[in-house]
This record gives sequence, C-alpha cells and structure tokens, in this order.
Amino acid sequence: MMGTQAMGAATNWSNPVERGAVDARAAITDGHGRFEIGRVTVAAPAPGEVRVRMLAAGLCRTDHDSMQWGATLILGHEGSGTVVDVGAGVANVAPGDFVILNWAIPCGRCKRCMEGHDVLCEDVRPADPLAAPGGTVHAGATRWNGVPIDRSFNLGTLSECTLVRAAAVTRITSPIPPSSAALIGCGVMTGVGSVLNVARVAAGESVAVIGCGGVGLNVVQGARLAQASMIVAIDARPEALDRATALGATHSLLADGDVGIADRTTAAVLQLTRDRGVDHVFEATGRSDLALACLALVRNGGNCVLVSGSSGEATLDLARLWWNKRVIAPLYGDCKPSRDFPRLVEHYRRGELELDALVTRTYDIDSLADAFADMLDGRNSKGVIVFPDVAG
Ligand SMILES: NC(=O)c1ccc[n+]([C@@H]2O[C@H](COP(=O)([O-])OP(=O)(O)OC[C@H]3O[C@@H](n4cnc5c(N)ncnc54)[C@H](O)[C@@H]3O)[C@@H](O)[C@H]2O)c1
Ligand SMILES: [Zn+2]
Ligand SMILES: [Zn+2]
Repeated sequence: MMGTQAMGAATNWSNPVERGAVDARAAITDGHGRFEIGRVTVAAPAPGEVRVRMLAAGLCRTDHDSMQWGATLILGHEGSGTVVDVGAGVANVAPGDFVILNWAIPCGRCKRCMEGHDVLCEDVRPADPLAAPGGTVHAGATRWNGVPIDRSFNLGTLSECTLVRAAAVTRITSPIPPSSAALIGCGVMTGVGSVLNVARVAAGESVAVIGCGGVGLNVVQGARLAQASMIVAIDARPEALDRATALGATHSLLADGDVGIADRTTAAVLQLTRDRGVDHVFEATGRSDLALACLALVRNGGNCVLVSGSSGEATLDLARLWWNKRVIAPLYGDCKPSRDFPRLVEHYRRGELELDALVTRTYDIDSLADAFADMLDGRNSKGVIVFPDVAG
C-alpha cells in the first residue's frame, strides 16, 4: 500500500521489541516516487551511536527528490529530537539532551575535519561524488518487516525514532521550539552557510538569490546577517518574493521564465548594479539549466554559488568565466555542525535570524502527502512534520 493512512496507535516506548529495539512509525519510500507510513524497529545504540526520539522533521525539496533515487529508504534528513540513549564512548550528548541532526556526518579525525570543513570529511565522503557517503550505524540496526532498511543520509528523520552516529547530533541548550530548530539541520544551514562560510559576503556587498524557497530564503537571511547592502530576490512565484522581502530582500524580481543570458530578469539585475553585476549570486532553484545562467548576473571577480547542488550536463561558453568569475557548488553551506548549529541558535536567540516564521505549517506524519503537495505548490516557506512528545 502506498499512501498516507494512519496505521495503528502511537509508538509504545515502554515496550521495546528484540534486544532493546523500539518500534517506530516512519515514512518509507520505494525509490520510485511513492511512500507509505510503516512500522520499523530501531535497535539500541552500539558504541559511538545515539538513539533519538524525533520531535520535528522539516521538509526539503531533496526529500521529494529522494523518492526517485531507486532505493527503499526511510525519508528525511532535517530534524530535531531528544536523545533517548547512547552507546559506549559517546561524550557529546547524554539521554534527555535536545539535539539537531546533521546529514553530512564527519569522522572528526581526518585533515579536512581538523580544518573545520566537516562536509569534506575524507573518511566518510569518498572522492567520487556519486559514491555513497559513510557515517552509517551498525548493520541491520533499522528494520522494516524484519529486513534491514537504509535511511536518507544515514538519518531518516521522518521517523518517530532514529539511530545515528554521535557525530550526527549537536546538543542545543538554548530554548527553541523543535520545529524551528529542525530547519537548522538543512535549509537554514545550507542557505546561511553558503553566504557566511562559502561566499563570505562582506558588509556593503550586493547579492542576488535565484529561487526563494526553503533554502533561498535562508540565503536572503544570511545576506542580511552579513549586512549586504543590496539583496535581490528572484523567483517565479510572487508569494516567494513576498516572503523574501519580509526576511530582508531589498529588491525583488519576478522571473517570467528562465534567468537566461539576455532575458528581462538579467537586464534588471544589471540595471540595478550599473551594468557591473552583483558581487555574489546564489542559485537555489534546483534547476540545473539555471546554474550557469547565474554567470550573467555576477560581476567580474564575483562568486557564482550553486547552492542547490543540481546534477546534469550544462554547456558553457568559457568566455563567461573570464575575469576571475568563480563558480562553486558548496553543499550544506560548508558547515561544521558543532560550531555552526549553536551559532545559528544564538543568532535566533538574539532576534537576528528568523526561524519561527519560516514554519508556515506543521503536519503530523500521516499528512506527509499534503506536506509534499504544499511544498511543490510553493505554499510554505517550510513545512514541518511534528511528532508527539511522548515524554511530556
Ligand atoms: N546542496 C545542498 O546542500 C542542498 C541542501 C538543501 C537543498 N538543496 C537543493 O536546493 C534546491 C532548493 O531546495 P528548497 O527546499 O529550497 O526547494 P523549494 O521548492 O522550497 O524552493 C525552490 C524555489 O525555486 C523557485 N523556482 C523554480 N523555478 C524557478 C525559475 N525558473 N526562476 C526562479 N525561481 C524558480 C520556486 O518557485 C521555489 O520558490 C533543491 O534542488 C534541493 O534539492 C541542496
Ligand atoms: Zn535538505
Ligand atoms: Zn573526517
């Protein structure tokens, strides 16, 4: 059955099945565009592992894409929850801690990790970008119908409970609603990190953002945090532009088609910048055909940041790269979760980073199909699946 029907009562945490495993309801995709809500079992943590009771899981366009990856897996890679129990040797969290999960799980020991570039971890991330990333837990830890099942990005946050590596969680001590905290795990970190960690936008610089959805809105927020003087929001939907303006965009342009080399949107950006182009342009639409169109908007020596990490072939006249234009596809805002997640929460606490208002709507897991439909229709800044807090 593929659909979103409720399947029985809530998880009984006090009645674990085999060897300390617990039973949890989870969203499971068949890898061919469909999902169902099923029951999985989640084993007790082995050394170095942490079991988390999920409280909230934000939806990202990547979750929808992951339903086409050809593999059966538990969906979800953005979320927050409470640590239930930890395996031997886990020092960064303890039972009862509130945590945000991260989907690029570092080893913490290699040269890249030591340099603070956890997303480039050489132990868990092979040089081949299409190879499966590491950061897995012990084999067979999560089972569906008795058979081991993979989890999206080794997390599977669209589940009442998940077992992850200790390096996949960061403890948060400041008060923050779980649904707001969840967004930090992907959309906020990716957007803000692309501005602050990757492009390193400086005060007074100009920025254009193509695509103002869950990620692009946080590029806008990052640019505001960086004190950019001009933040040009570009989207094909007027409501996305309204949200971008509310979050700090100084100009908005309705894209009436592709942002091409010579279209109206490009001309408008050039006009705003006296034909120079902006200092930094960020692509966050998920459309591979728009990636290189960004080069038409950026000044000589400027940064063209392909935030959505689209794949696919593109044809480029190399002259478009002349005069020191830089193209970078950073992924996950070059984050170091243990450094950046508390930093983002601190920005939130000081009122410098909007998170609560990004949660347009919350859903229970049985309404996941509605949540996906709303995301695809552009109705939400972010939709968040919330789980019952059974400890409360
Ligand atoms: N690389 C990473 O680390 C990373 C992390 C998160 C998400 N992503 C990717 O980033 C992309 C955006 O994710 P999201 O969750 O923000 O999606 P989203 O659906 O919330 O936002 C996409 C936005 O792009 C706009 N858009 C679409 N076509 C456009 C066009 N032709 N011109 C202008 N705007 C257009 C849409 O109206 C929408 O507002 C997705 O491809 C997602 O997979 C990448
Ligand atoms: Zn994501
Ligand atoms: Zn490493």
